Formats: sequence, C-alpha cells, structure tokens
Amino acid sequence: MATAAQESGEFAAALNLLMKHSSGARMLLPPWVRYLPLPFLIRVRRAVRQLDEVVYRIIRERRESESDKGDLLSMLMSARDEDGSRMTDRQLRDEVMTFLLAGHETTALSLSWAWYLLSENPEAENKLHHELGRVLGGKNPSFEDLPRLCYTEAVVKESMRLYPPAWSLARTAAEDFEIGGYLVPAGSNVVMSQWIMHRDPRFFPSPVQCDPGRWFEEPTQRLPRFAYFPFGGGPRYCVGASFAMMEATLLLAAIAQRFRLRMVPGHKVVPVPSITLRPKYGIKMSMHQIRV
Ligand code: HEM
Repeated sequence: MATAAQESGEFAAALNLLMKHSSGARMLLPPWVRYLPLPFLIRVRRAVRQLDEVVYRIIRERRESESDKGDLLSMLMSARDEDGSRMTDRQLRDEVMTFLLAGHETTALSLSWAWYLLSENPEAENKLHHELGRVLGGKNPSFEDLPRLCYTEAVVKESMRLYPPAWSLARTAAEDFEIGGYLVPAGSNVVMSQWIMHRDPRFFPSPVQCDPGRWFEEPTQRLPRFAYFPFGGGPRYCVGASFAMMEATLLLAAIAQRFRLRMVPGHKVVPVPSITLRPKYGIKMSMHQIRV
C-alpha cells in the first residue's frame, strides 16, 4: 500500500500534468480530438486514471467502514434525492474531485503567490512580522486570533488581487442581452477576467504595486461590486470562500512567524493562465528560520 507521502506526491504530479495540458490553445481544440491516440492525450488520460484511483479508494474505504465521520463525504453519501435515491460512486467521485481540485489548488496558489510577493516587498513583509509578533507573541495562530490578524488577511487579499488563482470566469449567454452598448447574442461565451479587473487603476491606484495596506484605505474599502472577485459571484459564488480565507490567513501566519522565504537567485517567475494561474517554472525559494 502506498504511503500518504507517496500518494500525495503522485496526486500532485498527476494534477500538475493535467493543469499543464489545460492551458492556452489546447482548451480550444474540438472535443473529438480528445479521443485521438496522441502522446500528450495518453499522458492526460493516465493522469485522470491516477486521480480517479485515489478518489474511488477514499469512497470505497468510507463505504466499507460504514461510519458517519460528519464530514463532507459522509454528508454527500447520506444525501437523498426527492425520489429517495443516493449518489452513485460516479457522482460522488465528481463531487469529491471538484472539492479536491477547487479547494486545494486555489488556496495553495494564493499562498505561493503571497510568498513570492512578500519576498519582493520587504516593507510589507516587515509589517506582517510586526503584526504576527504583536498578536501571536510566538504561539500558534488559531481561529480566535483571526479578527486581529488584519494585515495578514490583507496580504492574502493583495496576493489574490495581483495573482488571482482563478484568473477568469466564463458564462454562455442564455438569451440576447445588451451591456455597455454592446449586444451579446444568445449562445455567445462571455469571459470576465479577475486579472484584468484587479489591475484596473480606476479601482486600485498604482495597480501593479503590491501594497496590502491599500485594503485599509479609500478607494479600496469602497470598491464597486465585481471590481474584486477572486471567488466569483452570483449563484456560482465559491462555496469554499470563507474557509479558504481562514485557511490561507492561518497558514500564512503560522509559517511567516517562523520563516522568511527568499527567492532563489536567477529563478524566473512566469505566470501561466491555465485553468488556474500557475507559476510556469514553480516558485523556488529558500526558507530562513526566524529566532523568536
Ligand atoms: C483561494 C482559494 C479559492 C479561490 C480563489 C476559489 C475561486 C473560485 C471561483 C472563482 C469560483 C467560481 C467559478 C465560476 O463562477 O465559474 C469557485 C467555485 C467553487 N469553489 Fe472555490 N475557490 C477557492 C477555494 C475553494 C475551497 C477551499 C473550496 C472547497 C472546500 C472550493 C470549492 C468550490 C466549489 C465546489 C465551487 C463551485 C460552486 C458552484 O458551482 O456552485 N473553493 N471558486
């Protein structure tokens, strides 16, 4: 049986491959191309199989244990439709996969970009450490500390402003409509980009500058709706938004109070708009322990 470390390594490798092949022009290929025996498609299918194996195993083990752990998987398993039917393994797989991908990849990216921005902005990094020292005084951060970790939260917000893990959203118009003098015919795909809006100087002065302090000032405190939308909006608003903010803020606090992260000299950081906004060559950093 694979260890958790091996398994998470394999899971991450399969996920990396799928994200790599979901970028740019490949997304625009017609659906039938997916069935051709092309080498990159064979690798993609193998990666999906690997992810499926992990997810189906989690479902199988839970069914066998017959225990209600009170978590999301148990809730999904006990949910019933109006006709009394339960979810099939395939439906459970789709739900679990969505939560794994939507929840893990995005939050991990928001933190990766936050570390990158902090290493490039010593003033913001110092303010962060000052807050962590004042609020935590060396103890591990907990849920109760969150209301006082305001600057830490602002670092997460600023990271998602400049490098939104979900960099665009798309919708298909169900009927003709007009917006800003443009007619959008039914059936058109409309793309709304966080990357573009979050860098608009009308809402964010000096937009490319990383300044977590802006979240305590005008005009950022009075943003119009959808000038900043890292978690989307409307009926499809991210169900994990509050959880993700809590998780990212606590993780940033826990790690930053012990370590400073520095870019490895010469390493190039290049954002790639695949399904999520990923750093093409990763973000290579060294960790330096802080004496508390
Ligand atoms: C920084 C972290 C996160 C970001 C930036 C993010 C971003 C988003 C965005 C932009 C959407 C809307 C997609 C659309 O409208 O097409 C979305 C939906 C969703 N997110 Fe998140 N998300 C994050 C964390 C999470 C977490 C932690 C979970 C689960 C625990 C999660 C689960 C979901 C699910 C299930 C949906 C689909 C909701 C629906 O269609 O009704 N997300 N997320």
